[in-house]
Amino acid sequence: MRSHYCGELNETHLDQEVDLCGWVHRRRDHGGVIFIDLRDREGLAQVVFDPDRPEAFALAESVRSEYVLKVHGKVRRRPAGTENSNMPTGAVEILGTELEILNEAETPPFPVESEIEVNEETRLRYRYIDLRRPLMQQRMRIRRDVTRFLRNFLDHQGFYEVETPFLTKATPEGARDYLVPSRTHENAFFALPQSPQLFKQLLMISGMDRYYQVVRCFRDEDLRADRQPEFTQLDIETSFLNEDQIMGLMEAMIRGLFVEVLKEPLPNPFPRMSYAEAMRRFASDKPDLRIPLELVDVADLLKDVDFKVFAGPANDPDGRVVALKLPGGCEMSRKEIDELTQFVGIYGAKGLAYVKVNDRTAGLEGLQSPILKFLPEEAVRVILERTEAKTGDLIFFGADKARIVNEAMGALRVKLGHDRGLVERGWKPLWVTDFPMFEWDEKSQRWFALHHPFTAPNCDEQTLLANPGQALSRAYDMVLNGTEIGGGSIRIHQTDMQSQVFELLGIGEEEAQQKFGFLLTALKYGAPPHGGLAFGLDRLVMLMTGAHSIREVMAFPKTQSAWCPLIDAPAPVSDLQLRELGIRLRHPS
Ligand code: AMO
Ligand code: AMP
Repeated sequence: MRSHYCGELNETHLDQEVDLCGWVHRRRDHGGVIFIDLRDREGLAQVVFDPDRPEAFALAESVRSEYVLKVHGKVRRRPAGTENSNMPTGAVEILGTELEILNEAETPPFPVESEIEVNEETRLRYRYIDLRRPLMQQRMRIRRDVTRFLRNFLDHQGFYEVETPFLTKATPEGARDYLVPSRTHENAFFALPQSPQLFKQLLMISGMDRYYQVVRCFRDEDLRADRQPEFTQLDIETSFLNEDQIMGLMEAMIRGLFVEVLKEPLPNPFPRMSYAEAMRRFASDKPDLRIPLELVDVADLLKDVDFKVFAGPANDPDGRVVALKLPGGCEMSRKEIDELTQFVGIYGAKGLAYVKVNDRTAGLEGLQSPILKFLPEEAVRVILERTEAKTGDLIFFGADKARIVNEAMGALRVKLGHDRGLVERGWKPLWVTDFPMFEWDEKSQRWFALHHPFTAPNCDEQTLLANPGQALSRAYDMVLNGTEIGGGSIRIHQTDMQSQVFELLGIGEEEAQQKFGFLLTALKYGAPPHGGLAFGLDRLVMLMTGAHSIREVMAFPKTQSAWCPLIDAPAPVSDLQLRELGIRLRHPS
């Protein structure tokens, strides 16, 4: 039906007869001439109808926003002074000679403009209209560019794309499973995959050597801006490569991606930081290195002070006391500090002590703080030295269980960075490595895998058993501007070690057989050393498009309560369906 896309017309098409198809973006009547901005995927073109062609003119008068039109006309230069340099097609217009209304449209629930704020539920309910907005079209295009580049890169590196099942069994990635009842197997359920982790490992045992998949993953977890119940991974696994080789290949891919799609270079190589260092300096395992604020440990100075708030955690092996210097923070008002105290409260912090450095040269006299009276002069002196505080700075303190301090002060660091305009421009990727294998959970009194239970330790079995809490894993996360965009590891490829790790995690022999017997068996039939990782594709595209949520880069996302307003899912099913599945509802409505 069309000869050209609206958005591709320019001066090279002058005097050509063209056929355009698209949506009415805007219609303006101007003293006997009608202007229609016709929109398609590629952009806008201005079409002019004048009364010289009465039939087309009359039709043009009748069209409304979002009508679907086919237009025939001739490309001409816009009259001098009416060019629009903001529009790629702004030097030309089409003199419309024929007009066909392909379909009418009701007044849309919101205008198809990028800049207009619309409530998210409405946007999702009419997602097909929302996606017409130029900004959304651009995001979808970038997403296409990203997957195309990644597929190409991996194809060139000898990877096979292999599909793995959706109807499967639980793979523990730390979330709840979405279950699918089986009709043919009574009382049995499939689980939708939280990731293809075990299948990709089986593919390595199958000799596939290099695998990737652009694949949907399903996780029933608490949703946030960067979490959806179904999301897409670029999932990757390789055989016979060590972690340096895998990280090298993966960062080369991401560097190539940013150059190709955004024309922006990333550092080569990416910096690497151990988990311990990341937690120490940034209280986060995904530090945003664009923010030039760092935490400084001061517990050693405060063990004997007369201030329980500090002395308690300073003497607790699970405690932490840190200082966070905010350059130029002295001018902060009481009210601002109170607001920050409330903010850290969200993370469980019981307060937010601070010291204002009004004059660094004046000793204690130059400081202002509600807690100064509790602190020995020598401790204060060393704190100022360690934080390299200058006149005009403010030092915040966090003291509590390390977990609370890390969450609260890590979040405070990021908030201060954003609120005070300290975030540097550009891209700051890094690898975080040397994660602990396990985390101790007080409540259930057992170890949890920090990644998943198939991650290899970087020590032998004896060492692992002797001190599980000290063991580090061969896992690595790729972090970009404070978001974890990917994570992976070298895997356990020996049955004994795998069984050992299950046991440490409190998964007994019987349960291990029942849940993962297939893996334990497969590992006995010649499993190669293997490892890989998975990128969160939505998160990557979110960062690359500058969007604030992964919902902005998914065609049909769900709301924060895991609901789809467009098709209204999830939804009740018929009694017949339930009966066939052998299911009776506990709370039928
Ligand atoms: P992991 O659980 O770290 O690892 O997931 C890999 C990446 O997927 C993204 N991601 C998500 N994105 C959107 N919504 C979610 N709910 C969500 N959860 C995770 C993140 C994350 O870095 N099988 C392992 C990978 C491996 O070991 O190879 C895995 O799934 O960007
Ligand atoms: P309080 O003795 O509770 O009045 O606290 C004195 C100061 O210490 C106040 O500025 C509090 O905000 C701060 N504070 C209290 N608890 C903590 C904590 N756990 N970490 C950091 N500062 C705290």
